[in-house]
Amino acid sequence: MANDGVNGGINTGRRRFLTATTAVVGAVGVGFAAVPFVSSWEPSARAKTLGAPVDVDISKLDNEPGMRMIVQWRGKPVWIFKRSSEQLAALTTLDGRLVDPKSINPDQTPDFAKNESRAIKPEIAVIVGICTHLGCSPGYYPEMQPQAFDAKWQGGFYCPCHQSRFDLAGRVFQGVPAPSNLAIPPYHYTDDSHLVIGVAPGGAA
Ligand code: FES
Repeated sequence: MANDGVNGGINTGRRRFLTATTAVVGAVGVGFAAVPFVSSWEPSARAKTLGAPVDVDISKLDNEPGMRMIVQWRGKPVWIFKRSSEQLAALTTLDGRLVDPKSINPDQTPDFAKNESRAIKPEIAVIVGICTHLGCSPGYYPEMQPQAFDAKWQGGFYCPCHQSRFDLAGRVFQGVPAPSNLAIPPYHYTDDSHLVIGVAPGGAA
């Protein structure tokens, strides 16, 4: 059964969703009184908060199979979900149907995610949920079964706006309007159940 994306959808998928309330990492506003002129040119605290890294507890993903978290980072939805060993194996069979199966485009995939699963841990996907065509949020269709829009469906995302399709690693299929893979945000793990979105391994933003 299909799941919809951010804008709602069909029952079982929606039940699994959890929009995470996140903790903001970082400190702002130091030294304003001491240097009033300079500080007036600083970005506002709100702007800094909106751009700040986001700390996410992903232990919730173990509570229900197939659950997807949706976290807001820099005003964008970031999807976090688990992939089964069967789903990961299917990713290796799709290269011939994809535009950029090896994630060569550096704009969409940071170096740490240039692998088949486009992730630090293959079983945990972290993907910006915005279609690379015109910015809709694709729906989540994780089941490996034929769909009306793809008879060979192995799980992934379908954009209802202009029918672009992406696999469970966010890689775009050939013959659709979206030109490139869904973006992978910078992120890293702080322990087995926490990750920070906005900072890549080694500290790059
Ligand atoms: S916005 Fe997704 S296919 Fe056009």
